[in-house]
Amino acid sequence: MSAPPKTVLQASDDEAEAIREAVRGADLATLGPGREHVEMKHVPGLVELLADPAVSGPIYDLPRPINSDSITRWVAEGQAQRLAGEGLLVVTLDQHGKVAGYSHIRVWPERASAELAGALRADLQNHGQGRSGMAHTFGWIFETLGVRLMCLTAALDNVRSQKGIDAAGFRRMGEREAVRPDGTTRRSVYWEMTRDEWRQRHRL
Ligand SMILES: CC(C)(COP(=O)(O)OP(=O)(O)OC[C@H]1O[C@@H](n2cnc3c(N)ncnc32)[C@H](O)[C@@H]1OP(=O)(O)O)[C@@H](O)C(=O)NCCC(=O)NCCS
Repeated sequence: MSAPPKTVLQASDDEAEAIREAVRGADLATLGPGREHVEMKHVPGLVELLADPAVSGPIYDLPRPINSDSITRWVAEGQAQRLAGEGLLVVTLDQHGKVAGYSHIRVWPERASAELAGALRADLQNHGQGRSGMAHTFGWIFETLGVRLMCLTAALDNVRSQKGIDAAGFRRMGEREAVRPDGTTRRSVYWEMTRDEWRQRHRL
């Protein structure tokens, strides 16, 4: 399951409420083309996307097995997280309206912190889209949702993710036992980055 950062920030009540409001009201037009808040109509497309092990294999926090029932529950959880101001489940649609990827932003408002997971459809992988999409999404999370800290994990053998995350300037902070929904664990590389570090890097 998603887990908040190792570093513990304490948000004031006002800061936490502002983050919740930003999550609930987030305009995905600024996140990128084809981005939509998840709805039940996306379930078949998400099942097709995530049934491919080249897409879902490296991601620890997805429900298993992947089928209509499990993805319907996952979509409902994503919608509930948005209403609570604690997460956004975002689908990316291609020019034909097919689901071509997803991002799951988990937010802990009382800790002013967030975590990101996501994937691209297999035919879109390895063209540099992941790296540029990740970098844009990190900045969007800091500046639009107002969190001050992000953490990320990736499987020890997920070279593509690791390269993209390192390139964005995240700091490696050892490893973490990521817990899957069924309670089993996966060792992961662990990173953090603060908003100040992000702004300094991008001279904002
Ligand atoms: C991870 C993912 C988002 C990366 O996006 P992508 O568009 O496929 O990756 P990119 O083309 O941007 O490549 C990222 C880097 O990995 C490198 N790379 C790709 N395949 C590689 C390989 N087999 N060995 C070494 N490096 C490799 C690329 O050259 C690039 O590095 P560079 O920018 O320094 O040249 C995408 O592959 C994906 O959705 N994978 C399945 C799900 C997943 O792993 N999600 C992330 C969980 S943390």
